[in-house]
Amino acid sequence: MRNTMFRRLPVQRATGELYGGRHRLRVLYRTRDLVVLGLGVMIGSGIFKISGEQAAGNAGPAVILSFLVAGVVCLLAALAYAELSSIIPVAGSAYSFSYVAFGEIWAWVVGWAMVLELLLAASVVARVWSMYAAQTLGDFGVPVPDWLAEVIGQPKGFDVLALGILVLLVVMLAVGGRMSLRTLWFMVLAKLIVVGLVIAAGLKFFEPGNLTPFVPPARPAPDSGPTVLDTLLGLAGGGQPEAFGLWGILAAAPAIAFAYIGFDLISTAAEETDDAPRKVPRGILISLLVAIVLYVAVAVAMLGMVSYADLDASAPALANAFDEVGAESMGKFIDIGAVLALTTVILVVLISLTRVVFSMSRDGLLPRGIAGMSRYRVPSRATLVSGGAAVVMSQTVDVITLEQLVVMGTLFAFLFVSAAMLMLRRDQPDLHRPFRVPAAPVVGVLTIAAVGWLMLSLKVQTWGWFLVWMAGGLVLYFAYGHRRSQMRLLLDHPPAAPVRLDAPPPGSGPYPYPHPHPRRSGPQQTPPADPFAVAPLRPGHPHAGHAQAPHGQLPHGQLPHGQLPHAPIPYDQLPYDQLPYDQVPYDEVPYAPAPHPQAPHPQAPARPAPPQVDGTYRLDPHPPPPAYPPPPEQPEPPYPGGRHRR
Ligand code: ALA
Repeated sequence: MRNTMFRRLPVQRATGELYGGRHRLRVLYRTRDLVVLGLGVMIGSGIFKISGEQAAGNAGPAVILSFLVAGVVCLLAALAYAELSSIIPVAGSAYSFSYVAFGEIWAWVVGWAMVLELLLAASVVARVWSMYAAQTLGDFGVPVPDWLAEVIGQPKGFDVLALGILVLLVVMLAVGGRMSLRTLWFMVLAKLIVVGLVIAAGLKFFEPGNLTPFVPPARPAPDSGPTVLDTLLGLAGGGQPEAFGLWGILAAAPAIAFAYIGFDLISTAAEETDDAPRKVPRGILISLLVAIVLYVAVAVAMLGMVSYADLDASAPALANAFDEVGAESMGKFIDIGAVLALTTVILVVLISLTRVVFSMSRDGLLPRGIAGMSRYRVPSRATLVSGGAAVVMSQTVDVITLEQLVVMGTLFAFLFVSAAMLMLRRDQPDLHRPFRVPAAPVVGVLTIAAVGWLMLSLKVQTWGWFLVWMAGGLVLYFAYGHRRSQMRLLLDHPPAAPVRLDAPPPGSGPYPYPHPHPRRSGPQQTPPADPFAVAPLRPGHPHAGHAQAPHGQLPHGQLPHGQLPHAPIPYDQLPYDQLPYDQVPYDEVPYAPAPHPQAPHPQAPARPAPPQVDGTYRLDPHPPPPAYPPPPEQPEPPYPGGRHRR
């Protein structure tokens, strides 16, 4: 068995250009859907809760600057995400980027950190959702029996609302992507209206005096556990940690990074995006810029309305600020907005979690069975497994206290993505990069330094939990993923011949079905047989023998059933699990563009040129041959009999 731990995945393999038994997710998103996806996940507890918390406890009115500082760090990281998504537009995001840039074990480490980030984010936000939902019920005087009041809006223990929202969203995602996208559009528009009204109403009560002093004088920070930076500075004789003052502006930034989590998740939707290499970078950057503007505007409105000293860090500060100026109805309105906003956060976080788990299973690092898809090309098994884990975690772990771990997992991925961008610039400078980070070496190093500083500003306890999680992940990798990785199978069973499929890489060509968003008024189109469908071969299928061909025992240079090397093999004629995926010598095969889906079959007779007739237009007497020989006819199954038997 070869050691594949440090083996890097070629880009063409990661994108599926060089054939690799890839299941394809259904193409669903356009740029505007990606922006909605990004805003859906970014605008959540950050805007309704964190801005007030950090203003009251750490930075005062200068929290506006903290939002800008955290926003700039995220923007730097977003540039790296945009470049890598334009090269490797696949569902694994940072996990897949690290596989290509650093090798398998690093990919696993990053993927495992993302699983932590997303699993915990879904659980934490479901808990916060439950608190806002309970508060909203109270706002409107909905009677809640005592026995129910004890199991809703609870920070820990069994919570029926947190459980309910997670189960509902998981089921919705497992059923189909189109419905979740529509729901997302509706809810994101609704929450943008709420945020717009909050800004407008806040500016109506604006008092410039509330913004002074803009940077309140520094004072000793309350003892809520030291950060790694405090500890290092303390060891170097740097004194006591401080809140407020200039230091407070920086100290608020890591918590605020939680509010920006989400632009990175857009890249997990790349495999489902039409023309992903161009649209994903646009979606990432547009949504992050919109989020920065909205966060800063809400912070200005809130802190102009009430003095930071009157904000309560432990309560939903935005709604309370409106209560303080006598606009209680706005407070209720904000609670409804928060419920909507947090619903979309959970929805998008679950979508991303599913895609990362799906990618890791597809590569064999988690059980391959999890990467199975439903007939609508939804990764339903990954959805049920990840959603089930989120449900269990939300009900059994005191997740609210672990909120910083979400930021830790996210920043860890940012660090790897920035480094991967630099690494690929150095090692593979000729890759086609539809989006390029400007001044890449400088921006890349700056991003690593800024993200590293945010990570050091997290608590020592958070680092401890993170190391425990990562150690567990490494045990799992050596126990399972390392042995079952598709990369290892490939290297252990040298290929008979290079194989290339006809499936175009994600986002590289025209969408082969009716557009995913057909006009409502137009006639309903039925998609033709799906050329990317992956189904297990039925016994008796002419290619079924192929499935049983033992690895590495085919005569060199010859494929099963006499196919020529490089001959395109219709994707849907390949078995699910024993694909030549394992036989492709990825690093050894020089990349050549895959044939266009409409190109004539290489074995088809040459097509004579149509006769030229001056000035007249005639039908081509030689219609093009079908792209591939049609699949053999399946015999009709015997009539089953039953109620309608004649
Ligand atoms: N950015 C998301 C929120 O603020 C996670 O809730």
